Amino acid sequence: MDVHPYSKMLAQAPLAIVVCGEITISDRYWQQDCAAATQNILLTARALELGSVWLGVYPKEARTKAITKIFNLPKNIRPLCVIAVGHPAQEKGRVERYETSKVHRNQW
Ligand SMILES: Cc1cc2nc3c(=O)[nH]c(=O)nc-3n(C[C@H](O)[C@H](O)[C@H](O)COP(=O)(O)O)c2cc1C
Repeated sequence: MDVHPYSKMLAQAPLAIVVCGEITISDRYWQQDCAAATQNILLTARALELGSVWLGVYPKEARTKAITKIFNLPKNIRPLCVIAVGHPAQEKGRVERYETSKVHRNQW
């Protein structure tokens, strides 16, 4: 909580995954790569009937520094986010959020 203000579920979560990119491999695209990996982890958790939450770290400097320190990450490793994983206490109903007005066809 000191490190991340919106992460109180972590105190109860049985698992947390820190998604990291290696900037020596991909210095320009590591954020996109890690975001895609994160979404895949969230979808897989759902498929396994687990709950998960994306907890943003990058580009918040203080959070990035704190996570780097806690996990002793090497200089070339950057954390994009932490994913809390657990067994959902409740099932939320599906919310329809599709908005036709936000979809543009052929041009904006
Ligand atoms: C980049 C990013 C950062 C997020 N950071 C947090 C966070 O710090 N704490 C949190 O509780 N949820 C965080 N979320 C999760 C969202 O608040 C929300 O739970 C998620 O987008 C799914 O919302 P929904 O289940 O209502 O669709 C983040 C989501 C994204 C995409």
